[in-house]
Amino acid sequence: MKIMVVGGGGREHAIIKKLKESKDVTEIYALPGNGGIAKDAVCVPVGATDIDAIVDFAVKEEIDYAVVAPDDPLVLGCVDALNAKGIPCFGPEAKAAIIEGSKVFSKNLMKKYGIPTAKYEVFTDMASALEYLETAPVPTVVKADGLALGKGVIIAETREDAKKAVISMMQDKAFGKSGENIVIEEFLTGPEVSVLSFTDGKVVKPMVSSMDHKRAGDNDTGLNTGGMGTVAPNPYYTKEVADECMEKIFKPTIAAMNAEGRTFKGCLYFGLMITPDGPKVIEYNCRFGDPETQVVLPLLESDLFEIMKATTEGTLENTEVKFANENACCVILASKGYPLSYEKGFEITIPDEISDNVYVAGAKLSDGKLLTSGGRVLGAVKTAPSLEEAIDGAYKLADMISFENKYCRSDIGARALKAGR
Ligand code: AMP
Ligand code: GLY
Repeated sequence: MKIMVVGGGGREHAIIKKLKESKDVTEIYALPGNGGIAKDAVCVPVGATDIDAIVDFAVKEEIDYAVVAPDDPLVLGCVDALNAKGIPCFGPEAKAAIIEGSKVFSKNLMKKYGIPTAKYEVFTDMASALEYLETAPVPTVVKADGLALGKGVIIAETREDAKKAVISMMQDKAFGKSGENIVIEEFLTGPEVSVLSFTDGKVVKPMVSSMDHKRAGDNDTGLNTGGMGTVAPNPYYTKEVADECMEKIFKPTIAAMNAEGRTFKGCLYFGLMITPDGPKVIEYNCRFGDPETQVVLPLLESDLFEIMKATTEGTLENTEVKFANENACCVILASKGYPLSYEKGFEITIPDEISDNVYVAGAKLSDGKLLTSGGRVLGAVKTAPSLEEAIDGAYKLADMISFENKYCRSDIGARALKAGR
């Protein structure tokens, strides 16, 4: 089977490495992939949002199955366009990807179907939003409706800060059209858990839970990033919490999407907060998380391609989704300065014997050399029987990799370790 994976980050590298283990997969193309992915797939210089070029390539190369990994092509209708040419895909159609593409949609969905989430108001004009903030409780959370590269959420400690966030989104258009409408919601507290799940629109099979580390600095300080590391499983996600999530959140969400005529197939990501009042949805993503995928898929024992096909064909109920009873840790090595400005173009050295444990996010090949080309450069991933061993192992791997201006957090997994004791 000829497979095409749309995207080019660490998440896509993790998907591709796992697909290579599948018995039916013979060739993998990555669009666009990256310099590290080039070790595991044929990289094709087509951008992940260039839907026409993606479809042209798939038709010309007679691709048997496509995995559309990032949010933007999904929201733009990449799956719809490929399906129209008869190419089956892993991932939701645009009408279902809206669960991530519009926070107004997802909040209204949860309200309509009684799925636990933060209380909220939607605003379509700035004056009403500012008036509401005169008396709103703080801290409060201001969210741009549309996709904003993970930056469209502002936690405001004061009403003044909340107003500034509203003005930057609605007047100054900091996130373009994504901020035309906004959600202002209740500030929740509690540990966060990421749960990725497979669904064919009929059943939902959660993957092992994980914990992201979004802030740039140790002890969760500094700016928000695309994720500086992950561990799996997440110790806050106990069996009891998992059962409650299944009944109150996962199954109701699948049913709600069906009831709206927006059947979701693919990977539905539940961003949860375990609040004193029980688990609540912070966000939905219509795709695998990054860097959650880098710790979740290495623990998957079942055949990923079989599962993906089952989500497309509606046969997930009878398909095994089994995870190792182990732990995993991913430490992201970034370019110093990320998420603000950073230098790139430095040569990366990865010892051959650890290349299986490395998931490359931002690197390009130049004259046979691997050079840094992004803020997040790669993830070093270790699986082990205990979380402690996984963390130690990931940091040992991280030490063996070198490039100029290498930066990583030194406390990935520390909180999970404490919570699990
Ligand atoms: P999102 O892009 O919706 O995942 O939000 C980014 C981050 O903002 C989340 O991972 C949370 O840490 C935080 N966040 C979002 N909504 C809330 C909320 N209602 N209360 C507290 N923190 C929140
Ligand atoms: N790690 C968070 C995300 O993928 O959105």
